[in-house]
Amino acid sequence: MGNEIAEGYRGFAAFEARGASPLYESLALHVAESRSAQAFLLTLSKDKRQPNLFFAAVRHVAGTPNGPAHFDEIIHQQGDQIAEVMRLRTTQTNEPGRCAVLLPVLAAIDGPIALIEVGASAGLCLLPDRYGYDYGRVRLDPPKGFRPVAPVLECAACENTPLPRHLPVIVWRAGIDLNPLDVDRDEDVRWLETLVWPEQSLRLARLRAAIGVARKITPRVVRGDLRRDLLDLVQDAPKDATRVVFHTAVLNYVLPQEDRDDFADMVRRTGATWISNESPKVFPQYSRHLTRDRGAFLMARDTRPVAWTAPHGQAIRWLR
Ligand SMILES: C[S@@+](CC[C@H](N)C(=O)[O-])C[C@H]1O[C@@H](n2cnc3c(N)ncnc32)[C@H](O)[C@@H]1O
Repeated sequence: MGNEIAEGYRGFAAFEARGASPLYESLALHVAESRSAQAFLLTLSKDKRQPNLFFAAVRHVAGTPNGPAHFDEIIHQQGDQIAEVMRLRTTQTNEPGRCAVLLPVLAAIDGPIALIEVGASAGLCLLPDRYGYDYGRVRLDPPKGFRPVAPVLECAACENTPLPRHLPVIVWRAGIDLNPLDVDRDEDVRWLETLVWPEQSLRLARLRAAIGVARKITPRVVRGDLRRDLLDLVQDAPKDATRVVFHTAVLNYVLPQEDRDDFADMVRRTGATWISNESPKVFPQYSRHLTRDRGAFLMARDTRPVAWTAPHGQAIRWLR
């Protein structure tokens, strides 16, 4: 079992943290070699041993360690509190930057739109019409009343991406999450902030700005399971708006594959437009024919792939 943990942490260091967070890379390599850190993780259930949760819990309890020795000291002194946070919390990273890759797809839908997000976390991706965007050749300012609070989301868009010239009209919005986070609760905000990796100060600033917007609007996110509770929410949406169901970085948490496929059938039965921005592994059947230049996430509208996107919405490559 220790080996399984070591392999997982080595993989995380090499494929996720390298180039993105030198601190997380060094901590992950350290955990892969450390008997005491692995013994600590073995006291937790298997689904609670992943690096993102472990490192965020350490930082939530004790601040950011300055290296592996400091990390060991923190685990030694505050291990019980860290384990408690890991039991109670999950990785619910809410990345408003993903709205920048959602926008070109939303803009092509006849509105006004009723937007329904499953796996919404604190609901920051429910506010694409309240942020500004900078695609280089096209720039959209945040709407009046949200400047200068709103973030301007930067996104590198390939030439053939159909960039919108105006913000979409969203007349109704709501989300579902297993555990909605509340932007008005300091503990939840602190957890959201801690989920941003230590060196990523631009992401942190963007998150804080988006939280500022969410505090003005308070997007409704209900507690529920996307496998059971989607239909009720879709029925709440106004009938004269175009209902759009979307999700991003969520369905990798939904297992087995059969549950994802049942969810897909359920969305289709609602008659809503469906936008999925997920790892291509989530619905391999939709991307099997796309063999070249795969990206981290695949954006699909009503099962049809439309673009490869970067995980935090920092780039979009439209498919021809
Ligand atoms: C990584 S976060 C992504 C949040 C947001 N979509 C974004 O892109 O910023 C995944 C979210 O999905 C939620 N989630 C996972 N499984 C779920 C389920 N079966 N039903 C509802 N929400 C779920 C988690 O609680 C978490 O808040």
